[in-house]
This record gives sequence, C-alpha cells and structure tokens, in this order.
Amino acid sequence: MNKTDMIPHFTHHILCIGAGYVGGPTMAMIAHKCPQYRVTIVDINPERIAQWNSDRLPIYEPGLDEIVKAARGRNLFFSTDIEKGIQESDIIFVSVNTPTKTFGVGAGMAADLQYWEKTARQILESATSDKIIVEKSTLPVRTARAMERILFSTQNGVRFEVLSNPEFLAEGTAIQDLEQPDRVLIGSRQTESGLKARSTLAEVYANWVPQERILTTDIWSSELSKLVANAFLAQRISSINAIAVLCEKTEADVSQVAKAVGMDARIGPKFLNASVGFGGSCFKKDILNLVYICRYYGLNEVAKYWESVVEINEYQKEHFVMTMLNAMFNTLAGKRIALFGFAFKADTGDTRESPAIYIATRLIEEQADLVITDPKALVNAKTDLKGGEGKVQFIEDPYEAAAGSHAIAILTEWRLFRELNYERIYRSMEKPAFIFDGRNVVDHSKLYQLGFNVYPIGKPVLTHL
Ligand code: NAD
Ligand code: UGA
Repeated sequence: MNKTDMIPHFTHHILCIGAGYVGGPTMAMIAHKCPQYRVTIVDINPERIAQWNSDRLPIYEPGLDEIVKAARGRNLFFSTDIEKGIQESDIIFVSVNTPTKTFGVGAGMAADLQYWEKTARQILESATSDKIIVEKSTLPVRTARAMERILFSTQNGVRFEVLSNPEFLAEGTAIQDLEQPDRVLIGSRQTESGLKARSTLAEVYANWVPQERILTTDIWSSELSKLVANAFLAQRISSINAIAVLCEKTEADVSQVAKAVGMDARIGPKFLNASVGFGGSCFKKDILNLVYICRYYGLNEVAKYWESVVEINEYQKEHFVMTMLNAMFNTLAGKRIALFGFAFKADTGDTRESPAIYIATRLIEEQADLVITDPKALVNAKTDLKGGEGKVQFIEDPYEAAAGSHAIAILTEWRLFRELNYERIYRSMEKPAFIFDGRNVVDHSKLYQLGFNVYPIGKPVLTHL
C-alpha cells in the first residue's frame, strides 16, 4: 500500500469557528455520525484548544468525552490555525459568542456582534475557494445581511452563501439533543445558489436526522425563530414562577397547579418547574436582544411584554433572598449558609447567569458566611465570586459543607442532592435548621419530620417555629 492510499478521502471539509459549548459538542456529533467528513474546530483561545486536545475537555457534558475521544485524530481536529482551517474547508460554521453589549448604543440589551464581525472579516481575508457560511451562533434577525455585506465587499472571485442554522441544544443534555433533535432549522436565501447551499447542509444532517425533522425556511424566519424559541421557553418559567409566588400566599401547591395546567394538551407539561429563577448564558441575553430589536422597530408594547419575562426572573431571585432573610429572623450576619449547587442547571459545570451568583452576592451583602458545594461548578464559582474571599468557602463534600450551617439553600437540581442522608446533615447543623429548596427537589415532609424548617418554592412552608 503506498502512502496516498492511506489518506482518507473526505467528501466535505467542515470548519467550525468557536470551540465553545455549542461548537465543541455540535461538531463532535457531526464527526461521530459522518466519518466521511473531516471536521476541524478552531478558536482564538489557545488554552481552550489545548483542553479539547487533552484528556480533560474544557466543558462537562454527559456523553461528550466518549464521542470526542473516539473521533479525535480520525476525522475531528482542534486547532488554533484559523487561516488554514478557512482555506481547507467548504462549509464553515460560525459559533462564536454573541453576548449582551456592555458599552455604547444598546448597552445591556443589544447583542455584541464584534466577535461575529471579526470572523466574517477573517473568512473574507483567508478564503481562496467558494464556501458555505453557516450562522450557528444566536443572532439578531437580519444579521445574515450584515455578514453578506462584509463577505461581498471585495471582488476576489470567491463566492459565499450564508445560511442560518441556529442551535437548539440545552446544556446537560447536549449530546442527546444533538443526536435526536426535535428539529434542525436551516434558513437560506430563496435564490438558486441559496437553495443549493441549503440542500448541501441538509444532506449533512440527513446522515442521522430523519428528513421530516429537517425544517427549511427563509433566512430571516430562521434567525428570528431561535430568539423566539428561547423567549417562549423562558416565558413559561417566568409564568410558573409568578404563579409560585401567588401559591405561597394562598397555600396552593405550585407543583399541583403545574400538573393540572400542563395536562391540557394545548399547554403541555414541560418547562413548568417553578424555581429560584432561570439562568444560563442565553435566555436573558436573547430576550433582551429581542426587546432591543422590537424597540428599534418602534414596537414598544411588544418590547415591554417580553421584557417582563426577564423582570419576573430578577424578582424571583430577590424574592428567594427575602424569604431566607425573613425566615431567619431578619438577620444573616455571621451565619454559615450552605449553598447546594452553583451551576445554572444540573449536569453542567456552566455558571453563566446562574441564579446562584445573584443569591450568593446578596447573601454576602447580608454578611452571611457562605459554603458552596457543587459536583462540577466549583472552578467557575470561584471565578464568579472573586472578591468574596473571607466570606466564601468552596467544599466538594456536601456533608462537610452543611456541617455547622444554620441553613441550606438548594440552588441547582443535581440528582446528588435528592439522595443525601438528610438525617445525618440535620444532626450536624446549627438549630433551628432551615432548608430553602429553590428547585423543589427534596422530600419536604420527610425533612420537616427530621426537624428542618422547610421553605419550598410555591408551596406551603413547613416550620416548627
Ligand atoms: P462560548 O463562549 O462557550 O464559545 C464561543 C467561542 O468562540 C469561545 O471559545 C471564543 O474564544 C471563540 N471565539 C470568539 N471570537 C472568535 C474568533 N474571532 N475566532 C475564533 N474563535 C472565536 O459560547 P457558546 O455557549 O458556545 O455560544 C456560542 C453561540 O451559540 C452564542 O451565540 C450562543 O447564544 C449560541 N447558543 C448557545 C447555546 C448554549 O447552550 N451554550 C445553545 C444554543 C445556542
Ligand atoms: C436553553 C434552551 O433550552 C435551548 O433550547 C437553547 O438552545 C439554549 O437555551 C440556548 O440557546 O442557549 P439551556 O439554557 O442550556 O438551554 O438550559 P435549559 O434547560 O433551557 O434551562 C435554562 C434555565 O431554566 C436553567 O436555569 C433551568 O434550571 C431553568 N428551568 C428550566 C427552570 O427553572 N424551570 C424549568 O421548568 C426548566
């Protein structure tokens, strides 16, 4: 066998710019399902790339390690050489971060598109052959037009086709979501070349996604659908959280209300878990972006409607802190409080916009001494709470974290927290012992019987006081 026979022939050379929570898992899934494609992921952050090439991946996601390790070096590659990656590829996914703008016009609301624009310019600079550019990041509606303007700004003979292909994966279940997506959405221009590019991308997904789940639309509808999907999901949480507060006043039980309401097939049972508030890098930023776009078009009433979803979420977090303060005799100063969970949801180490950040900060303001425990998020928690030194400890073992505490606040719905020996924990705590269940995950009446004063979300309080 000569050397060239050993070089595999790949039918597509796919590049992804941005090796984050979306780029990494999404490309790993394409490489896993499509051994006939070569998939390369590039990033400006060399540390991140080094981690993707190591035994310890930069993000925790159930099932991710296995597929990355199986495909890496075969048809999945991580690199910092962006220029080479652009030159060698025919399909380029752009999955860079699009955070909320923190400066200038639209600060605190609009999407910051600087990383996005840099990518567009770099593609233009480095490309020597035709490319399909796929918007994977979540972007304001009509961003594809800006991308096209940059890409078409010089006449170097290279043709680009821009597609919108938003990602709907949720962290913690990313691999499952990518393997069996509810739908894959691809938006394109309705031109001959646009439709051709769209079917090329659809063929990539058709390697494992049933045809009927691959939905094609015009490009603006695709871009907007992503913002709307997140807004609707977040709206359900704010709706049930608003009702939870009413339940607390009326002795109704929010879980029973959610069940009764969710059994209406038109409403459905999912995403109705009352909580301490939603977190994550996207819900708040995407809704604020939607609000900004509505205001831009002069739709102030529509903007106000969506903005209230975020306002209720802010209220919910503060309400949780006030419940703790009121229950614990209006003073938290010098009291040890164990926070069970810091990740914004279970099965991830991600803490971006986690309600735990707000709650921890407020409790520190009240001069409480915090002990934080989380199976995957302590590294990020330490960064988030920089400056709180002296008032915060980070302890992996929840039993050790709870020992000597006046209260436990459950902030993340890790399965681990359901399965702890709360009798042992109760014995080790200061009395009266409080538990504030910000996720409604523990058995409240059992804990009450053990001696705890129990404060769930949206349910009657169980107290011995
Ligand atoms: P992330 O911050 O984890 O990753 C983005 C990566 O892009 C970073 O590693 C950053 O270094 C890199 N990057 C930035 N500019 C670059 C450039 N010019 N060249 C090369 N690399 C560059 O972000 P994420 O969570 O993966 O989100 C990416 C996008 O996907 C966002 O628009 C987000 O809204 C959207 N999204 C996120 C999720 C999620 O669950 N996190 C789900 C769906 C959609
Ligand atoms: C969410 C969407 O679910 C994804 O479809 C989308 O792709 C992604 O945002 C994105 O664009 O980034 P994610 O934020 O990873 O995914 O996680 P979710 O499961 O949606 O949870 C978000 C927050 O809502 C978490 O803090 C979670 O605890 C909270 N939540 C969720 C509730 O408080 N109650 C619920 O019933 C459900």
